[in-house]
Amino acid sequence: MAVGVGERSRYLCQGCGFVSPKWLGRCPDCGAWNSLVEEIGGGPRAAPARGVADPDAAPLPLDRISADDAPRIPTGSSELDRVLGGGLVPGSVVLLGGDPGIGKTTLLLEYLGQLAAARSEQVLYCSGEESPRQIKLRADRIGLATGRLVVFSQNALEPILAEILRMRPVAVVVDSIQTVTSAALESTAGSISQVREVAAQLIAAAKRLEVPIFLVGHVTKDGTLAGPRVLEHMVDTVLYFEGENTRDFRILRAVKNRFGSTNEIGVFEMGDGGLREVPNPSRLFLREERGELAGSVVTASVEGTRPFLVEVQALCARTAFASPKRGCSGADAGRLAMLIAILEKKLGQVLSEQDIYLNLAGGIRVIEPATDLAIALAVFSSFRNAVVDSGTVVFGEVGLTGEVRGVSNPESRVKEAAKMGFRTCLLPQSNLPRVAGTSREITLHGVSTLAEAVDHMIL
Ligand code: TYD
Ligand code: MG
Repeated sequence: MAVGVGERSRYLCQGCGFVSPKWLGRCPDCGAWNSLVEEIGGGPRAAPARGVADPDAAPLPLDRISADDAPRIPTGSSELDRVLGGGLVPGSVVLLGGDPGIGKTTLLLEYLGQLAAARSEQVLYCSGEESPRQIKLRADRIGLATGRLVVFSQNALEPILAEILRMRPVAVVVDSIQTVTSAALESTAGSISQVREVAAQLIAAAKRLEVPIFLVGHVTKDGTLAGPRVLEHMVDTVLYFEGENTRDFRILRAVKNRFGSTNEIGVFEMGDGGLREVPNPSRLFLREERGELAGSVVTASVEGTRPFLVEVQALCARTAFASPKRGCSGADAGRLAMLIAILEKKLGQVLSEQDIYLNLAGGIRVIEPATDLAIALAVFSSFRNAVVDSGTVVFGEVGLTGEVRGVSNPESRVKEAAKMGFRTCLLPQSNLPRVAGTSREITLHGVSTLAEAVDHMIL
């Protein structure tokens, strides 16, 4: 394969895994610049074991394949279980990504430690990043006292595989995949061929021994998992742990899940004693004391099966620039621009001389058209400096003609609003028949246009 270079050297794109016999400035496959790195010893042995197929297996008719011999293993966290699709699947491999310091190690230590204690079975925690002493200090901090969690300080793949085989733990963590190397390859830790080889071998072991394995992966500045996208294709489930370091809450999302939905989120709060589950996220995102303020509207969002309320805040201020500034945090900037255009065209508001800032309070990110109506009302309310009824929750999608369209799960949104003590709910007219009778404590107002919503809401 190699042309004009050392016999076993080749160039690998660290972004997509493209292989080239010579160095190139730009990867012809994924288009990334300067992503090709020379790797020695990446010859035929490095070919990744793709998939999990057993070479000796015979074809089987579908009705003779048993699917129910693997009950889910509940972890110590119902939030984590929900994101996984109802607990850990034996033999599954879960990639957990997230920024450094966000709490990946804490999450796995805490909830797999609880799993080990609850089931009286061992969990193998392989750490290439922290010493056993550091892990012990962390475990003490989160109050984890179990002898069932076994810490293995190891950077080499082969001893890890041997230990999994010997111990037969109920679950394994490899923290992080980028620090583990296989002796079969000469390339350095964290390079794409190492990460791929290590992952392939761990995946094969997980399937063979029916043990679930968590792989911790780092995330680069641009928000993708460091190194290989290929890793995401190899594993069964990809979870991202996110949040802002400056805030205490953390959100766990599934971006890929072969065993469940990818819409579910898990909400946690980082405190002095580790992570705490947040069964009622609305309380986290809504301020305790909300007065009657211009530019603030509460909306009900749904992630997966989970409704929560969040406060949308907008600020319009006369611009000092030739082209006004638009800032958007927590929502889709394109959607904000569209709603501003609708306010101008359909409601005659002159917003072209206004700087407009939008923020979802609490630092949460919600990309869902059901928040349109609340965003439009918050902008309108700030621009006109008119107060919006603070006891009302608003949801609905706004179409380009200014019509308010129905959204999914209206019942759970209304129920959440009632549960959080709101007295009224403004919602799409077309959703009204579905939610009628959902709750007696809340008055429902259906609207079919943005103009109607403004008439109703602006006091
Ligand atoms: P960590 O789990 O090490 O993050 P990652 O593995 O994703 O890099 O989290 C470390 C951060 O969490 C660190 O900034 C300290 C903070 N933390 C707490 O605030 N409280 C705690 O009880 C623990 C254990 C950590
Ligand atoms: Mg860590």
